[in-house]
Amino acid sequence: MPEAAIDRPGPDGSANGESSLPESRQSGNSQSGSLQALLSKSPQEARQPAEALSPQLDASRIVLETCNLSMVFGGLVALDQVDFRVERQSITSLIGPNGAGKTTFFNCLTGIYPPTRGEVILTAADGSEIRLKGLPPDRITKLGLARTFQNIRLFNNLTVLENVLIGRHCRMKAGLLGALLRDRRTRAEEREAADFAYELLVAYGLDRSVNDLAKNLPYGDQRRLEIIRALATGPQVLLLDEPAAGLNISETRELRELIETVREREKVSILLIEHDMSLVMTVSHKVYVMDYGRLIAQGPPDEIRREPKVVKAYLGEE
Ligand SMILES: Nc1ncnc2c1ncn2[C@@H]1O[C@H](COP(=O)(O)OP(=O)(O)OP(=O)(O)O)[C@@H](O)[C@H]1O
Ligand SMILES: [Mg+2]
Repeated sequence: MPEAAIDRPGPDGSANGESSLPESRQSGNSQSGSLQALLSKSPQEARQPAEALSPQLDASRIVLETCNLSMVFGGLVALDQVDFRVERQSITSLIGPNGAGKTTFFNCLTGIYPPTRGEVILTAADGSEIRLKGLPPDRITKLGLARTFQNIRLFNNLTVLENVLIGRHCRMKAGLLGALLRDRRTRAEEREAADFAYELLVAYGLDRSVNDLAKNLPYGDQRRLEIIRALATGPQVLLLDEPAAGLNISETRELRELIETVREREKVSILLIEHDMSLVMTVSHKVYVMDYGRLIAQGPPDEIRREPKVVKAYLGEE
Protein backbone atom coordinates (compact mmCIF):
# COMPACT_ATOMS: atom_id res chain seq x y z
CA MET A 1 0.00 0.00 0.00
CA PRO A 2 1.39 3.42 -0.83
CA GLU A 3 1.66 4.56 2.75
CA ALA A 4 3.49 7.76 1.77
CA ALA A 5 0.43 8.80 -0.16
CA ILE A 6 -1.68 8.85 2.97
CA ASP A 7 0.91 10.30 5.30
CA ARG A 8 0.77 14.03 5.01
CA PRO A 9 2.68 15.45 7.96
CA GLY A 10 2.72 19.13 8.75
CA PRO A 11 5.66 21.49 8.45
CA ASP A 12 7.22 20.16 11.64
CA GLY A 13 7.15 16.62 10.27
CA SER A 14 4.26 15.47 12.41
CA ALA A 15 0.66 16.44 11.98
CA ASN A 16 0.10 19.01 14.70
CA GLY A 17 3.02 17.61 16.69
CA GLU A 18 0.64 14.93 17.95
CA SER A 19 1.72 11.78 16.20
CA SER A 20 4.71 10.51 18.20
CA LEU A 21 4.34 7.46 20.43
CA PRO A 22 6.77 5.81 22.80
CA GLU A 23 9.13 3.72 20.67
CA SER A 24 7.98 0.44 22.17
CA ARG A 25 4.43 1.30 21.13
CA GLN A 26 4.96 2.48 17.60
CA SER A 27 3.97 -0.63 15.73
CA GLY A 28 0.55 -0.81 17.42
CA ASN A 29 -1.87 0.61 14.89
CA SER A 30 -0.47 1.20 11.44
CA GLN A 31 -2.68 2.87 8.94
CA SER A 32 -2.10 0.02 6.49
CA GLY A 33 -3.49 -2.36 9.10
CA SER A 34 -6.40 0.02 9.49
CA LEU A 35 -7.11 -0.09 5.79
CA GLN A 36 -7.25 -3.86 5.85
CA ALA A 37 -9.67 -3.68 8.75
CA LEU A 38 -11.72 -1.08 6.89
CA LEU A 39 -12.08 -3.37 3.92
CA SER A 40 -12.31 -6.71 5.63
CA LYS A 41 -15.23 -8.52 7.13
CA SER A 42 -13.16 -10.97 9.08
CA PRO A 43 -14.68 -13.13 11.80
CA GLN A 44 -13.20 -10.85 14.48
CA GLU A 45 -15.54 -8.20 13.16
CA ALA A 46 -18.57 -10.44 13.04
CA ARG A 47 -19.57 -8.76 16.30
CA GLN A 48 -22.37 -6.42 15.35
CA PRO A 49 -21.54 -2.76 15.52
CA ALA A 50 -23.34 -0.04 17.17
CA GLU A 51 -26.94 -0.32 16.10
CA ALA A 52 -27.12 -3.07 18.67
CA LEU A 53 -25.89 -0.67 21.37
CA SER A 54 -28.90 1.55 21.23
CA PRO A 55 -31.71 0.87 18.82
CA GLN A 56 -33.54 3.96 20.03
CA LEU A 57 -31.17 6.63 18.83
CA ASP A 58 -33.19 9.70 18.06
CA ALA A 59 -31.76 11.69 15.18
CA SER A 60 -33.48 14.84 16.37
CA ARG A 61 -31.51 14.82 19.62
CA ILE A 62 -28.32 16.53 18.55
CA VAL A 63 -25.99 17.40 21.41
CA LEU A 64 -23.13 18.90 19.43
CA GLU A 65 -23.14 20.41 16.00
CA THR A 66 -20.74 22.33 13.80
CA CYS A 67 -21.91 24.47 10.93
CA ASN A 68 -19.56 25.48 8.17
CA LEU A 69 -16.57 25.12 10.51
CA SER A 70 -13.31 26.19 8.88
CA MET A 71 -9.77 26.58 10.19
CA VAL A 72 -7.04 28.16 8.12
CA PHE A 73 -3.37 28.19 9.18
CA GLY A 74 -1.59 30.74 7.00
CA GLY A 75 -2.31 29.36 3.53
CA LEU A 76 -3.32 25.90 4.71
CA VAL A 77 -7.02 25.10 4.93
CA ALA A 78 -6.98 22.50 7.70
CA LEU A 79 -10.78 22.41 8.07
CA ASP A 80 -13.05 23.29 5.19
CA GLN A 81 -16.72 24.03 5.91
CA VAL A 82 -17.30 21.08 8.20
CA ASP A 83 -20.93 20.29 9.09
CA PHE A 84 -20.90 17.65 11.80
CA ARG A 85 -23.51 16.32 14.21
CA VAL A 86 -23.27 14.22 17.32
CA GLU A 87 -26.42 12.61 18.66
CA ARG A 88 -26.99 12.47 22.39
CA GLN A 89 -25.55 9.30 23.91
CA SER A 90 -24.16 8.03 20.65
CA ILE A 91 -20.68 6.95 19.65
CA THR A 92 -19.66 8.97 16.60
CA SER A 93 -16.31 8.44 14.95
CA LEU A 94 -14.16 10.70 12.82
CA ILE A 95 -11.67 8.91 10.59
CA GLY A 96 -9.34 9.98 7.82
CA PRO A 97 -5.72 9.78 6.67
CA ASN A 98 -2.85 11.39 8.58
CA GLY A 99 -3.03 15.17 8.34
CA ALA A 100 -6.71 15.15 7.32
CA GLY A 101 -7.61 17.68 10.02
CA LYS A 102 -9.11 15.45 12.72
CA THR A 103 -7.13 16.77 15.68
CA THR A 104 -7.57 20.31 14.41
CA PHE A 105 -11.31 19.65 14.51
CA PHE A 106 -11.06 18.68 18.19
CA ASN A 107 -8.90 21.72 18.87
CA CYS A 108 -11.55 23.96 17.35
CA LEU A 109 -14.36 22.28 19.30
CA THR A 110 -12.52 22.61 22.61
CA GLY A 111 -11.34 26.21 22.23
CA ILE A 112 -7.64 25.51 21.70
CA TYR A 113 -7.88 27.15 18.28
CA PRO A 114 -10.49 29.80 17.51
CA PRO A 115 -12.07 28.60 14.25
CA THR A 116 -11.58 30.92 11.29
CA ARG A 117 -15.24 30.59 10.31
CA GLY A 118 -18.37 28.72 11.29
CA GLU A 119 -20.12 27.78 14.49
CA VAL A 120 -19.91 25.13 17.19
CA ILE A 121 -23.20 24.63 19.00
CA LEU A 122 -23.68 22.58 22.14
CA THR A 123 -27.23 21.76 23.19
CA ALA A 124 -27.52 21.65 26.97
CA ALA A 125 -29.63 19.03 28.74
CA ASP A 126 -32.43 21.62 29.12
CA GLY A 127 -32.49 22.13 25.34
CA SER A 128 -30.80 25.53 25.30
CA GLU A 129 -28.20 26.09 22.61
CA ILE A 130 -24.76 27.40 23.56
CA ARG A 131 -22.37 28.77 20.96
CA LEU A 132 -18.87 27.66 21.87
CA LYS A 133 -16.85 29.56 19.29
CA GLY A 134 -14.56 32.07 20.96
CA LEU A 135 -14.95 30.63 24.45
CA PRO A 136 -11.77 29.63 26.33
CA PRO A 137 -11.00 25.91 26.84
CA ASP A 138 -11.75 25.91 30.59
CA ARG A 139 -15.19 27.40 29.99
CA ILE A 140 -15.91 24.85 27.26
CA THR A 141 -14.87 22.04 29.62
CA LYS A 142 -17.26 23.38 32.23
CA LEU A 143 -20.05 23.54 29.66
CA GLY A 144 -19.61 19.82 29.02
CA LEU A 145 -16.92 18.99 26.47
CA ALA A 146 -14.04 16.89 27.79
CA ARG A 147 -11.20 15.42 25.78
CA THR A 148 -8.15 13.24 25.75
CA PHE A 149 -5.10 13.89 23.62
CA GLN A 150 -3.42 11.98 20.81
CA ASN A 151 -0.24 12.00 22.91
CA ILE A 152 -1.09 11.18 26.50
CA ARG A 153 -1.02 14.30 28.66
CA LEU A 154 -0.99 13.33 32.31
CA PHE A 155 0.62 14.96 35.31
CA ASN A 156 3.31 12.33 35.50
CA ASN A 157 4.58 13.13 38.98
CA LEU A 158 1.13 13.26 40.55
CA THR A 159 -0.76 10.20 41.70
CA VAL A 160 -3.59 8.57 39.82
CA LEU A 161 -6.11 10.06 42.28
CA GLU A 162 -4.58 13.53 42.02
CA ASN A 163 -4.81 13.40 38.23
CA VAL A 164 -8.51 12.60 38.43
CA LEU A 165 -9.05 15.32 41.06
CA ILE A 166 -7.55 17.87 38.69
CA GLY A 167 -10.23 16.86 36.20
CA ARG A 168 -12.86 17.34 38.91
CA HIS A 169 -11.55 20.75 39.87
CA CYS A 170 -13.65 22.54 37.24
CA ARG A 171 -16.81 21.51 39.15
CA MET A 172 -15.59 22.78 42.52
CA LYS A 173 -16.75 26.08 43.93
CA ALA A 174 -14.20 26.93 46.60
CA GLY A 175 -12.05 29.84 45.50
CA LEU A 176 -8.64 30.93 46.66
CA LEU A 177 -10.02 32.08 50.01
CA GLY A 178 -11.63 28.72 50.67
CA ALA A 179 -8.40 26.97 49.77
CA LEU A 180 -6.45 29.20 52.18
CA LEU A 181 -8.91 29.11 55.07
CA ARG A 182 -9.88 25.50 54.51
CA ASP A 183 -13.27 26.13 56.08
CA ARG A 184 -15.83 23.39 56.65
CA ARG A 185 -17.54 23.87 53.31
CA THR A 186 -14.27 23.66 51.44
CA ARG A 187 -13.23 20.52 53.28
CA ALA A 188 -16.61 18.92 52.62
CA GLU A 189 -16.33 19.78 48.93
CA GLU A 190 -12.82 18.32 48.77
CA ARG A 191 -14.06 15.12 50.40
CA GLU A 192 -16.91 14.88 47.91
CA ALA A 193 -14.51 15.38 45.02
CA ALA A 194 -12.17 12.69 46.36
CA ASP A 195 -15.09 10.27 46.79
CA PHE A 196 -16.32 11.02 43.29
CA ALA A 197 -12.84 10.52 41.83
CA TYR A 198 -12.34 7.28 43.72
CA GLU A 199 -15.72 5.95 42.56
CA LEU A 200 -14.70 6.61 38.96
CA LEU A 201 -11.44 4.76 39.52
CA VAL A 202 -13.36 1.80 40.96
CA ALA A 203 -15.89 1.84 38.12
CA TYR A 204 -13.18 1.85 35.48
CA GLY A 205 -10.75 -0.50 37.14
CA LEU A 206 -7.90 1.73 38.30
CA ASP A 207 -8.62 1.82 42.05
CA ARG A 208 -5.77 -0.60 42.68
CA SER A 209 -3.38 2.10 41.42
CA VAL A 210 -4.95 5.02 43.23
CA ASN A 211 -1.73 6.12 44.96
CA ASP A 212 0.69 5.25 42.16
CA LEU A 213 2.39 8.01 40.24
CA ALA A 214 0.88 8.39 36.79
CA LYS A 215 4.28 7.90 35.16
CA ASN A 216 4.62 4.45 36.74
CA LEU A 217 1.39 3.07 35.25
CA PRO A 218 1.57 0.66 32.32
CA TYR A 219 0.90 2.41 29.02
CA GLY A 220 -2.63 1.05 28.62
CA ASP A 221 -3.55 2.24 32.13
CA GLN A 222 -2.19 5.70 31.36
CA ARG A 223 -4.60 5.89 28.43
CA ARG A 224 -7.37 4.69 30.74
CA LEU A 225 -6.48 7.29 33.36
CA GLU A 226 -6.68 10.06 30.80
CA ILE A 227 -10.22 8.98 29.95
CA ILE A 228 -11.18 8.80 33.64
CA ARG A 229 -9.76 12.26 34.25
CA ALA A 230 -11.83 13.59 31.34
CA LEU A 231 -14.93 11.90 32.83
CA ALA A 232 -14.25 13.58 36.17
CA THR A 233 -15.12 16.92 34.56
CA GLY A 234 -18.72 15.67 34.20
CA PRO A 235 -18.97 15.95 30.42
CA GLN A 236 -21.92 15.69 28.08
CA VAL A 237 -19.59 14.87 25.22
CA LEU A 238 -16.33 12.98 25.59
CA LEU A 239 -13.80 13.51 22.79
CA LEU A 240 -11.17 10.80 22.41
CA ASP A 241 -8.24 11.48 20.07
CA GLU A 242 -6.77 8.14 18.98
CA PRO A 243 -7.24 6.36 22.31
CA ALA A 244 -6.07 3.05 20.81
CA ALA A 245 -2.78 4.48 19.53
CA GLY A 246 0.02 2.27 20.78
CA LEU A 247 -2.27 -0.30 22.39
CA ASN A 248 -1.90 -4.00 21.63
CA ILE A 249 -4.83 -6.19 20.59
CA SER A 250 -5.98 -7.15 24.07
CA GLU A 251 -5.60 -3.58 25.37
CA THR A 252 -7.63 -2.38 22.40
CA ARG A 253 -10.35 -4.92 23.24
CA GLU A 254 -10.42 -3.59 26.80
CA LEU A 255 -10.60 -0.06 25.46
CA ARG A 256 -13.61 -0.98 23.36
CA GLU A 257 -15.35 -2.35 26.45
CA LEU A 258 -14.38 0.77 28.37
CA ILE A 259 -15.84 3.07 25.70
CA GLU A 260 -19.12 1.15 25.67
CA THR A 261 -19.30 1.11 29.48
CA VAL A 262 -18.58 4.83 29.67
CA ARG A 263 -21.38 5.60 27.24
CA GLU A 264 -23.87 3.57 29.23
CA ARG A 265 -22.77 4.46 32.77
CA GLU A 266 -22.15 8.17 32.26
CA LYS A 267 -24.89 8.70 29.63
CA VAL A 268 -22.43 10.69 27.55
CA SER A 269 -21.95 11.04 23.83
CA ILE A 270 -18.57 9.92 22.60
CA LEU A 271 -16.73 11.46 19.70
CA LEU A 272 -13.90 9.20 18.64
CA ILE A 273 -10.94 9.90 16.37
CA GLU A 274 -9.29 6.60 15.57
CA HIS A 275 -7.12 4.87 12.98
CA ASP A 276 -7.99 1.40 14.29
CA MET A 277 -10.80 0.58 11.88
CA SER A 278 -11.70 -2.61 13.64
CA LEU A 279 -12.48 -0.57 16.76
CA VAL A 280 -14.27 2.14 14.81
CA MET A 281 -16.43 -0.28 12.89
CA THR A 282 -17.51 -2.15 16.01
CA VAL A 283 -18.32 0.69 18.41
CA SER A 284 -19.65 3.48 16.21
CA HIS A 285 -23.24 4.40 15.52
CA LYS A 286 -22.10 6.80 12.86
CA VAL A 287 -18.81 7.45 11.10
CA TYR A 288 -17.63 10.66 9.44
CA VAL A 289 -14.70 10.58 7.04
CA MET A 290 -12.40 13.55 6.59
CA ASP A 291 -9.80 14.10 3.91
CA TYR A 292 -7.86 17.33 3.34
CA GLY A 293 -10.05 19.11 5.89
CA ARG A 294 -13.32 18.19 4.18
CA LEU A 295 -15.93 15.65 5.12
CA ILE A 296 -16.10 13.23 2.22
CA ALA A 297 -18.55 10.68 3.64
CA GLN A 298 -20.77 9.99 6.62
CA GLY A 299 -23.02 7.14 7.61
CA PRO A 300 -23.29 3.93 9.60
CA PRO A 301 -20.12 1.78 9.66
CA ASP A 302 -21.37 -0.75 7.14
CA GLU A 303 -22.07 1.95 4.56
CA ILE A 304 -18.77 3.69 5.20
CA ARG A 305 -16.89 0.45 4.69
CA ARG A 306 -18.38 0.13 1.21
CA GLU A 307 -18.04 3.79 0.23
CA PRO A 308 -15.59 4.04 -2.71
CA LYS A 309 -14.52 7.60 -1.76
CA VAL A 310 -13.38 6.34 1.62
CA VAL A 311 -11.33 3.48 0.24
CA LYS A 312 -9.82 5.88 -2.31
CA ALA A 313 -8.88 8.39 0.40
CA TYR A 314 -7.09 5.67 2.33
CA LEU A 315 -5.36 4.27 -0.74
CA GLY A 316 -4.42 7.71 -2.02
CA GLU A 317 -5.44 6.81 -5.58
CA GLU A 318 -6.19 9.38 -8.23
N1 LIG B 1 -0.97 24.94 14.69
C1 LIG B 1 -0.81 24.60 13.41
N2 LIG B 1 -0.15 25.40 12.56
C2 LIG B 1 -0.01 25.08 11.26
N3 LIG B 1 -0.51 23.96 10.69
C3 LIG B 1 -1.16 23.12 11.50
C4 LIG B 1 -1.35 23.39 12.89
N4 LIG B 1 -2.07 22.37 13.43
C5 LIG B 1 -2.31 21.51 12.43
N5 LIG B 1 -1.76 21.96 11.28
C6 LIG B 1 -1.83 21.30 9.97
O1 LIG B 1 -3.18 21.01 9.71
C7 LIG B 1 -3.30 19.77 9.02
C8 LIG B 1 -4.20 18.85 9.80
O2 LIG B 1 -3.49 18.40 10.94
P1 LIG B 1 -4.16 17.50 12.06
O3 LIG B 1 -3.18 17.33 13.15
O4 LIG B 1 -5.47 18.07 12.41
O5 LIG B 1 -4.35 16.12 11.27
P2 LIG B 1 -4.91 14.72 11.80
O6 LIG B 1 -6.03 14.33 10.91
O7 LIG B 1 -5.17 14.79 13.25
O8 LIG B 1 -3.68 13.75 11.49
P3 LIG B 1 -3.16 12.44 12.30
O9 LIG B 1 -4.07 11.31 11.90
O10 LIG B 1 -1.77 12.22 11.77
O11 LIG B 1 -3.17 12.77 13.75
C9 LIG B 1 -1.87 19.24 8.85
O12 LIG B 1 -1.41 19.61 7.57
C10 LIG B 1 -1.12 19.96 9.94
O13 LIG B 1 0.24 20.10 9.62
MG1 LIG C 1 -4.41 13.88 14.90
